[in-house]
Amino acid sequence: MSLREILIIPDPLLRRTAQPVPEITDSIRKLGEDMLETMYDAPGIGLAATQIGVMKRVFVMDCAPEGEEPAPMVIVNPELTWVSEETETSEEGCLSIPEVYEEVTRPERVRMRWLGLDGETHEQEFGARWAVCIQHEMDHLDGKLFIDYLGPVKRRMITSKMKKLKKERSRV
Ligand code: NI
Repeated sequence: MSLREILIIPDPLLRRTAQPVPEITDSIRKLGEDMLETMYDAPGIGLAATQIGVMKRVFVMDCAPEGEEPAPMVIVNPELTWVSEETETSEEGCLSIPEVYEEVTRPERVRMRWLGLDGETHEQEFGARWAVCIQHEMDHLDGKLFIDYLGPVKRRMITSKMKKLKKERSRV
């Protein structure tokens, strides 16, 4: 396994659309392992392939509450087959936008269909943090970020803050 570098906004790769994975291969399994390791190291609860510059429809997540058994998931080619009418507003953060947390409103529950690393199609309903995480990570695969749900002024402020952060980090 190896740690991958997480891209920070603004980066054109974070705005690209990822491509479907035709089949589960060793390189996809390795990508999943690397992404989980990178996510846990960050630490975070979700990471999309586009965030490490890989344009494939893959994301990883583990929204198990702290102190509970880890529940790592590698999700390939996700699709939402249902979303609830009820919405929920919660604070989101993103490893590509460090130290920024803002409230976003999304459907409270979703049903997702995906390809597992076992090569099988899975479908399951998710709520709570899992539902938020799934929608956030699926947005990444279409080049969308959670700050896109905020107003333009706030988005510009956050983007310039990240430009400064990147400059500082590159000096180290
Ligand atoms: Ni994110």
